[in-house]
Amino acid sequence: MLLRHLRPFILRTVLPLLAATTAAGATLPPPPAPAASRPTPFYATPFERKPDVRTLTALGRALFFDRTLSASGSLSCASCHDPAHAFGPANHLPVQFGGPDGKRPGVRAVPSLKYHQTMPPFSEHFFDNDGNDSEDQGPTGGLAWDGRADSAHEQAAAPLLSPFEMANADTASAVAKLRGSPNASALREAFGPHLFDNPQHAWNALVLALEVFQQSPADFYPYDSKYDAFLRGQAQLSAAETRGLAVFNDANRGNCAHCHPSAVKRGSFPQFTDQGFIALGVPRNPAIPANASPTYFDLGLCGPLRTDLQGHDAYCGLFRTPSLRNVALRGVFFHNGAYTRLEDAVRFYARRDASPQRVYPRDAAGKTRKFDDLPPRFAANVNVEAPFGPRADGRPALSQAEVADIVAFLKTLTDGYLPPGGANKVAGR
Ligand code: HEC
Ligand code: HEC
Repeated sequence: MLLRHLRPFILRTVLPLLAATTAAGATLPPPPAPAASRPTPFYATPFERKPDVRTLTALGRALFFDRTLSASGSLSCASCHDPAHAFGPANHLPVQFGGPDGKRPGVRAVPSLKYHQTMPPFSEHFFDNDGNDSEDQGPTGGLAWDGRADSAHEQAAAPLLSPFEMANADTASAVAKLRGSPNASALREAFGPHLFDNPQHAWNALVLALEVFQQSPADFYPYDSKYDAFLRGQAQLSAAETRGLAVFNDANRGNCAHCHPSAVKRGSFPQFTDQGFIALGVPRNPAIPANASPTYFDLGLCGPLRTDLQGHDAYCGLFRTPSLRNVALRGVFFHNGAYTRLEDAVRFYARRDASPQRVYPRDAAGKTRKFDDLPPRFAANVNVEAPFGPRADGRPALSQAEVADIVAFLKTLTDGYLPPGGANKVAGR
């Protein structure tokens, strides 16, 4: 699956850039005459100059930290996506604040930006060439919790223009800020002195640089966690980590690897997400201001943020499975930040069906309101595979000790591990 995912990625992104690199300085062949009604494809933007990948990465890195691109002047991408937290939030807040005054709350937890490089664009019917039989795996891929952005350059538009994030009224006002930003001269140098004469080109340059930065292996997919060292035979897991990995993989206990794959597959190291969409029925988070309205529900794939699949009832409550790499660096868990401790996020899996009264609030009559973040008619969408589902013995799917072992194992997924004997022992993959 991973290889299959890499292929469109390479074709879509890396190759055009490499081609652009070799052509730098040389006269570019004229682009095919575009049909009058069809806009130029993003990657074919006819910039005056075509910067190479290194230049784009350096530019993207600077722009990622550039606060002048926000309406408030105080918010950059890194304010919400902190490199010290795997490009996730640096605090325990379920949603971050933005907007012109820095006071408007978001509606979802900030995801990590790491290990997205194999993410295919969203598709409702994903086929994995996994053998002879190709099976429809259902909705898969795309960026954001609901998969609504097909690429990092498309995704970058969302925070730049969102009224509760960087809050530019439109691309033109973002470009106006860019023109006055400390990075403007570097952009002119990279893309050509007349870049800002064409606001569309300037916008494309901005989001292209941000995208290429997010494809930088050393920053975004180093594969240098303890678990990676273990897979390469360069580190040993402790007893608790070994037990945790076993429970994580065991289809009858954690069954975590079913959705968060942990094994090397066809030479690709695991991403700890199958990139698919699942409804887990995590409890509603009253700390999200939007949830003060009893009629507001974030239903993921079927809306309201995503609009193209509204009315598809079978998709309501489904969110994209996140990678668990670097999960121990997070201060909030799940799309609505319902939990702020990793132990509690894992315990949710043990308790949801075994002791729902410990997960969900009660109504006025004292009855547990299971799946309280979903309108009742969508409760049937919630996944009931192991570790969920009724159990004959009535006990939680995972014991306290197993939860602790899983947490110990998850902590091996944090990047930047130095194996005993020094970093120089870690060879490339
Ligand atoms: C105010 C906080 C905030 C700022 C600033 C912000 N983001 Fe985000 N980012 C989020 C949230 C929240 C999500 C999840 C959105 C959703 O699921 O609807 C997200 C999602 C993403 C994703 C998709 C990740 C995934 O798991 O699929 C990418 C890529 C991204 N942001 C890049 C950026 C870039 C680039 C910038 C700067 C131009 C930026 N973000 C600025 C809050 C922020
Ligand atoms: C049926 C698929 C499935 C299984 C099985 C599964 N997960 Fe998940 N996991 C998901 C999905 C989907 C989400 C996001 C759900 C949401 O936010 O609404 C998620 C989110 C998480 C998160 C929060 C990560 C973050 O960035 O916020 C953790 C931690 C986690 N899973 C751990 C586990 C562990 C440990 C197990 C095994 C006990 C497990 N998962 C089993 C699908 C699954």
